[in-house]
Amino acid sequence: MRLIFATNNNHKLSEIKAILGERFCPYIFTMSDIGVSVNPDENGKTFMENALIKSNALYMEMKNKELLKDGDFIIADDTGLCIKHFNNAPGIFSSRFMGNITQKEKNLKILELMKDLDDTERYAFFITKLVVIEVDKVETDPKILDFEGKIDGYIAKKIEKTDGFGYDPIFAVGDYTDIYKGYVKTFSNLGIDIKNKISHRAKALLLLVEYLEKNHKI
Ligand code: IMP
Repeated sequence: MRLIFATNNNHKLSEIKAILGERFCPYIFTMSDIGVSVNPDENGKTFMENALIKSNALYMEMKNKELLKDGDFIIADDTGLCIKHFNNAPGIFSSRFMGNITQKEKNLKILELMKDLDDTERYAFFITKLVVIEVDKVETDPKILDFEGKIDGYIAKKIEKTDGFGYDPIFAVGDYTDIYKGYVKTFSNLGIDIKNKISHRAKALLLLVEYLEKNHKI
């Protein structure tokens, strides 16, 4: 079995490896391990469509180059932050949100745009859609599976720690009543070990693990 991830994002890959843990290490492959690279336009209208675009691009590339093997799983993760106050934006536009500015600038801008909001109006969630193309036998049609992970939270009022990536410094787990308790559990404040136990990505990947175990793939 090979679990081949269609991503060039090193942050994502290191989280994936940490979440799956040592048991899965021998089975995890990156595109560069396989000697291929795809970077398709993520022009889908949903997380599912974008994850499918990415996994399918890698599947087709490997198929055309005759690199597929029986027992391969081609996996893509599409993730986004959805903020209720912005009608669930940035959502599928999480990486392109606000154009060509740094992630730090994006985070600060979001805090600025939300600065006058009541604590109860700060709800947000992270969602990960995993699309997995299961190649049982190279010569037969593959199976397409999908798994979803979601975590509810809210947008913090300020950045305390900047660890992690993307929107980790401003997304806090739990609900706004935590603001009153004075302990704001942003993914950055919680740290990567805790994030990897509870995150949207962890929930989606653990469903994949469940599938693999149930079907005696591992
Ligand atoms: P992608 O399209 O799935 O690669 O992710 C879109 C964007 O969402 C990334 O560029 C990051 O800014 C952000 N993102 C994805 N996953 C996370 C996460 O776990 N924490 C914070 N931001 C994330």
